[in-house]
Amino acid sequence: MKVIGFNGSPREKGNTEFLVETALEQLRKQGFETELVRLGDKNIDQCSGCYSCVEKKECSINDDFAELFQKMIEADGIILGSPVYHASIPPKLKALLDRAGFLGRWVVNEMKSEDSTYQWKGTAFSGKVVAPITVARRAGQTFAFAQLLLWATVNDTIVVGSNYWNVGVAGTGGKVDADQDTEGIGIITHMADNMGYVLKKLKN
Ligand SMILES: Cc1cc2nc3c(=O)[nH]c(=O)nc-3n(C[C@H](O)[C@H](O)[C@H](O)COP(=O)(O)O)c2cc1C
Repeated sequence: MKVIGFNGSPREKGNTEFLVETALEQLRKQGFETELVRLGDKNIDQCSGCYSCVEKKECSINDDFAELFQKMIEADGIILGSPVYHASIPPKLKALLDRAGFLGRWVVNEMKSEDSTYQWKGTAFSGKVVAPITVARRAGQTFAFAQLLLWATVNDTIVVGSNYWNVGVAGTGGKVDADQDTEGIGIITHMADNMGYVLKKLKN
């Protein structure tokens, strides 16, 4: 079974990546295959709202999205790691989640124009195990964390928590110091244990 972890920060090897990698390392210890994906390296434009994915079942924008969507589809578990930017997730992660969530809905459903009530058959992410992680210097965690939770819970996924919200506190003055956040490391390690537990139960 495979778990992918997104570092949604533009910064390589920053605080978000440290905590995502902490979770992936814990999952590797339990025998999971893992992959870290850095959004900073990727070209992902925002959703254009063209709705062509409703019919074509693919995104009309030609950038790195298709590769990332495929990775998400193939993974059993997805960790969404994000820094907090003005109490929000940053734009590239939002662009990925908008496009993945919208396309992921239409690859398994049809638009019913004559009826305002949908009977959803699920999404491309149905049954996947998702864990959000946010990292902030001080405040705004809950809004960004909620954005990730709302994406996970509208997309028919199984969300994993921990013994506290899956958040880290780090980054004063741009420091990369999430390794000093021992409480955060404990929370994220426990979250990874929960994710491993759920994935193994689902497989059996
Ligand atoms: C543009 C920008 C906006 C930020 N907004 C917030 C914020 O709203 N609240 C907060 O506590 N920290 C904020 N920070 C600090 C980062 O969330 C923090 O440094 C985090 O550890 C960065 O993670 P990274 O190293 O993975 O990029 C902001 C940083 C930047 C660059």
